[in-house]
Amino acid sequence: MKSLITNGTVVNADGSAVADVLVDGEKVMAVGRGLAGSALAAGVETTFDATGKYVIPGAIDVHTHMELPFGGTFAKDTFESGTRAAAFGGTTTIIDFAVQSQGKSLREGLDAWHAKAQGNATTDYGFHMIMSDVNDATLAEMDQLVAEGVTDFKLFTAYPGVFYSDDGAIFRAMQQTAQNGGLIMMHAENGMAIDVVAAQAVAEGKTDPYYHGVVRYPVFEGEATNRVIRLAEAAGVPVYIVHLSARDALQMVREARDRGAMAFAETCPQYLFLSLDDMANGFNGAKFVCSPPLRPADHQVDLWHGLVKDDLQVVSTDHCPFDFETQKQLGVGDFRKIPNGLPGVEDRVDLLHDGGVVGGRITKERWVDIVSAAPARMFGLAGVKGVVAPGADADLVIYDPARRHTISARTHHMDVDYSCYEGRSVTGGSDIVMSRGRVIVENGNWKGEKGWGRFLRRKTAREHLV
Ligand code: URP
Ligand code: ZN
Ligand code: ZN
Repeated sequence: MKSLITNGTVVNADGSAVADVLVDGEKVMAVGRGLAGSALAAGVETTFDATGKYVIPGAIDVHTHMELPFGGTFAKDTFESGTRAAAFGGTTTIIDFAVQSQGKSLREGLDAWHAKAQGNATTDYGFHMIMSDVNDATLAEMDQLVAEGVTDFKLFTAYPGVFYSDDGAIFRAMQQTAQNGGLIMMHAENGMAIDVVAAQAVAEGKTDPYYHGVVRYPVFEGEATNRVIRLAEAAGVPVYIVHLSARDALQMVREARDRGAMAFAETCPQYLFLSLDDMANGFNGAKFVCSPPLRPADHQVDLWHGLVKDDLQVVSTDHCPFDFETQKQLGVGDFRKIPNGLPGVEDRVDLLHDGGVVGGRITKERWVDIVSAAPARMFGLAGVKGVVAPGADADLVIYDPARRHTISARTHHMDVDYSCYEGRSVTGGSDIVMSRGRVIVENGNWKGEKGWGRFLRRKTAREHLV
């Protein structure tokens, strides 16, 4: 089946032009002027007039946690509800984190995540692998996962007793990944030091959610970021710092890149648009508890500079939603027991358009780069996703850059009972969203289907990045 999008401004990371986009089956067939009426367009069944709109590649969120077990509960969105919400917000691919639980194999973790996603995801998806144990058996398994298209491994210097790995374990995983061609992703905060300060705060009666933001010092993120980048340099492996929040950490990434290290990083909308002040509202602050925490507002300026200068290559969401009325309440009286994570998979594209493009901080091409093209490049999907070009998957969004709407839990599609951005008015929204040539969102109406999404076997960092 063919469809044609006419007269939109096609925005790719490397430039924009008014053009038509011809879709044949699951792929983009042609991009150019005057395709309507051309021989190529013979047999077109549906035409979309995109005059005054952008046509952008479907966005890619490389950091989500559907159904993540955390703090005695599970992140609420399933692959069905989470990918559906993502699609309403213009995101047509997610890369979620499969989890190897302590004492279990990587295979068991990966199989569990395939079981959660297959038959449920409404858009395409891939997996990274969280490693909780590094030992001879799991190291050997890493190579097999890479061969199966699960090409990145996340390790943590945070969360002692849960996901934490010591420097030796991290270094061994890095050495293995240097061999197999994959990418190391690091949650870089000094979890050991944080636990000391957190225990001291609680002993002093400072138990409100606000103190979650206070005890996780920015310098603890800077220290761990520098440490893991140095370890990666020693191992000869590319390293990607996830959810970078503090200028202290950004400075370490910048210095590393300036000396030629294979260091990359993402930040998230919550660090660009929210701040520690949002946590200073009694237990309501629990809505904003995530790790790393929200920072004092002056860090935001540095993060925006990091995006402009490409020291930060990607904005992902770290979508990890917990209901406020039930799940977040686990931490009443002790902020350490609040499940860590925020909802956001639906809001990223619009927030970045509003705060970035409309706000005059980045161009519309850079916007497409950080939400779609760079994620595809960094994570082995280049040429398939993240670009409007012949041969690429027809994951396309007709985006209205002028539509104003208000973000609210009353209208969002994420399965969570609050929004971090409640009442915020944003300019820009997705009118039509296509996943592999199929319209899945049409002017606010759901047209997609549970199980439509396919698992993406991704290329390795060695094949696409370095
Ligand atoms: O608070 C967060 N970020 N929760 C999800 C787990 C993680 O560290 O990414
Ligand atoms: Zn993390
Ligand atoms: Zn995360």
